[in-house]
Amino acid sequence: MFLKQCSSFLLRFDQRLCDRVHKSELDMLAAPTPSGPDKPGIFAELRQQLAGVLAGERDGLANCANTVALIYHALPELNWAGFYFLRDGELVLGAFQGKVACVRIPLGRGVCGTAAARRETVVVPDVHAFPGHIACDADSRSEIVVPLIRGATLLGVLDLDSPRPDRFDADDARGLEALVAQLLEASDFARLATSTW
Ligand code: SME
Repeated sequence: MFLKQCSSFLLRFDQRLCDRVHKSELDMLAAPTPSGPDKPGIFAELRQQLAGVLAGERDGLANCANTVALIYHALPELNWAGFYFLRDGELVLGAFQGKVACVRIPLGRGVCGTAAARRETVVVPDVHAFPGHIACDADSRSEIVVPLIRGATLLGVLDLDSPRPDRFDADDARGLEALVAQLLEASDFARLATSTW
């Protein structure tokens, strides 16, 4: 009986704590982002918000999930944003926001596999003009993929899709690369990415 009361108290306590954390995250996400074409300013603000979201947590999956939620809701004109992790020689779907997506992508295939194989950010202004583009969401018209690289090891990619053609530019590339670097610095990926390619 005592144990039951204790656990019900702990559950209520956990829920209140969770509500408080959730509310402060919502307040943070609802904060106005700079308007207009000031992309470096938007990314500077996102880096600050990401630091708060990642503080005190090193779990790679949890941190990727929150990172992609932050990006998806903060950046305009996205219809999909998510991670693929390199597992046993292929990219496997990880945390994402948007419609259901292709689960496995071989290295060198599609925009994701190309960015992973080249180990560099790939910006695609028109996905229909990219040979081998893998269409997961028919709304996607442009795409950017940033590789996750720690030391010499490729861990996966971050993929963003937009319904607007030519949505991504060099500012997005630099801004997203900085967010990815911040995420990698703050997280452990040992159980997520299992290849040393
Ligand atoms: N378009 C990607 C596939 C992943 S989805 O966009 C979620 C590609 O060509 O690799």
